Amino acid sequence: MKKTMITGVQPTGNFTLGNYIGAIKNFVNLQKSHDSFIFIADLHGLTTYQEPAKINKTILDLAAIYLACGVDPKETNFFVQSKVDEHCVLGFLIAFQCRVGELSRMTQYKAKKEKSGGSVDLGLLIYPTLMAADILLYDAEVVPVGSDQRQHIEITRDLGERVNKKYGGMFKLPDYYISKYGHRIMNLQNPLEKMNKSAPADDKGTIFVLDDVKITRKKIKAAVTDNDNKIKYDEKNKPGISNLIIILAILRDVTISDIEKEFENSNYGEFKEVVANEVERFLLDFQAKYQKIRESDELIKILQAGEKEARKRAQAKLETVKTKMGIMI
Ligand code: AMP
Ligand code: TRP
Repeated sequence: MKKTMITGVQPTGNFTLGNYIGAIKNFVNLQKSHDSFIFIADLHGLTTYQEPAKINKTILDLAAIYLACGVDPKETNFFVQSKVDEHCVLGFLIAFQCRVGELSRMTQYKAKKEKSGGSVDLGLLIYPTLMAADILLYDAEVVPVGSDQRQHIEITRDLGERVNKKYGGMFKLPDYYISKYGHRIMNLQNPLEKMNKSAPADDKGTIFVLDDVKITRKKIKAAVTDNDNKIKYDEKNKPGISNLIIILAILRDVTISDIEKEFENSNYGEFKEVVANEVERFLLDFQAKYQKIRESDELIKILQAGEKEARKRAQAKLETVKTKMGIMI
C-alpha cells in the first residue's frame, strides 16, 4: 500500500524559487508513488492579519502556482485547508494534549515573538497544534518541507505519540522529507539568510517565481559571492557560490559534483550567466503554464474535487478520534 504524503503552504507573501526547490519539487517528484495530499494553509495564514478582500485571489494565485510547478490533480488531492472543518476540530483536540512550555520553545514562535516586540497572538503559539492536526488527520507518514519546518514535524510526532499512548493507537506518526540539498535556499544578497517569501517585492536577493525574467537575470548576476573565483561547493566558506551551485544542480537534476566538474575552469561571471539562463528557462516555462491555469475554470473544479476526497478521509478519521476519546458521535 502506498504511504500517505501531505504538505501545505500558506497563501501569504510571494512564492519564491526557494519554496519551489525546498518543498514543492520534492512533493512533485514523490506524488505518484504516494497517496498524496496538498493544501493551501489559509488558516495558518490567518495567524497574522490578512486583508479579507485579497485572500481569495491570493489562494487562487497560489493554487495556479502549485499546478504550474507540476502538482498533478490526477495524482494528488489538492484543496484549501479552511474548506475542511475537521482540521480545526482536530487542531483543538490536539491543542489539549500540548503544554504551553513546549509551544513557547518553538524556534519559529520565538523568532516571531521577538520580531513583534514580545506581545503575540495566541494563534502564533498554537500554530504547531493546527499543523499537527493537518498531518495526523490523514495518517500522513511523509511530509516534504524545507528545513525551517523540521521542528513542527517533530512536535507533530510527539503529540501523535502522546495521544496514541493516552487513548490507544489512532495516528500514524509522520516523518519529514527534507532533501539533502536545497532545503534552505539562501538570499542572493545575503547568503547567510534564507530566501523568504515575505521579502519586499523589490528585494534584490529574492527570486520570486512570477518575477519578470529580466529582473531575475540581474539578481543572479549581482549575487554576492567571494573573491576566490572557484566554483566549489563549500557552504561554510563560500555560501554565495554554494547557493548558486545548488540552484543549478537542482534545476538540472544533476549532482553538486557534476556542476563542480563542468565549471572547473570557469570564472564567476561565466558561471552566473549559466545559472541565469537555467533559472530563466525554468521560469519562462513555469510562467506560461501559470497564466494558462490561472485563467482556466478548471482551477476551482480541481480544488473542489480535492476537497471532497479530503473531507471524506478527514471525517472518517475524526470519528475514530472522537470514539477513542469517548466523545459521543
Ligand atoms: P513558507 O514560505 O514559509 O510558507 O514555506 C513553504 C514551504 O517552503 C516550507 O516547506 C518551507 O520550509 C519551504 N521553504 C520556504 N523558503 C525556503 C527556502 N528559502 N529554501 C528552501 N525551502 C524553503
Ligand atoms: N507551516 C507550514 C509552512 O509555513 C505550512 C503548513 C501548514 C504545513 N500545515 C502543514 C506544511 C502541514 C506541511 C504539513 O511552510
